[in-house]
Amino acid sequence: MSLRAQRSNLKVGAIIVAAGSGERIDNIDKIFVPLGGKPLLAWSVDTCQRCDLVQQIVITLNNNNFELGQNLVKERAWSKATICLGGLRRQDSVKEGLRKLKDCDWAIIHDGARPFLTLDLIQNGLKAAMETGAAIAAVPVKDTTKLADDAGLITETPQRDKLWTAQTPQIFRFGMITEAYKKVTNEVTDDATMVERLGYKVKLYLGAYNNIKVTTPEDLALAKIIAQNI
Ligand code: C5P
Repeated sequence: MSLRAQRSNLKVGAIIVAAGSGERIDNIDKIFVPLGGKPLLAWSVDTCQRCDLVQQIVITLNNNNFELGQNLVKERAWSKATICLGGLRRQDSVKEGLRKLKDCDWAIIHDGARPFLTLDLIQNGLKAAMETGAAIAAVPVKDTTKLADDAGLITETPQRDKLWTAQTPQIFRFGMITEAYKKVTNEVTDDATMVERLGYKVKLYLGAYNNIKVTTPEDLALAKIIAQNI
């Protein structure tokens, strides 16, 4: 069945993880830094709020930002959104978010630090996830990438046309991702790794080079340029 045909029956929840350690840019927590007239976090949440495929949104925040987040929910009239406290590691925040989703068949997990989520990235991701139960946005690596040992000596040069940079959104059948989060406890840097460890197949679908994660002041400068051109 096509996504269009299933649209009305899909039960989809989005988790926007934004409970990072509160790195500051211009003395403002990077997740609330102004970008094109609204806080950085508001970009991805606005997209989920606007997306008719998504019925619920859980935003994870750390203790310092909890109240700020609750005010933002009211100000921006995010009727689908609730805020929950994140955890120590990213994956702990995702786990908290998963606990808060109610009656979902699909979970979309997205970094709040990636403002340029689009309706297409959500829709294409859900379509791809329906093939195997799991799909992640990714872009082909442009640079040659090296593996090196602790002494800085190259141990391997993987074939570039097989390498992809993983992004979010990462989309999973709800039962699959909750099972993975129960069983896998060692530290990972994305959600797909969890389900890969259990042997599930994860599909890559084309993300976007402008779907950047804002980590440094340089990233923010680039994000401002992207925001102007959207
Ligand atoms: O750690 P990294 O920079 O990859 O973080 C990606 C996203 O995960 C960010 O949006 C960050 O706020 C979120 N995060 C979280 N809880 C943590 C650590 C990171 O929600 N404990």
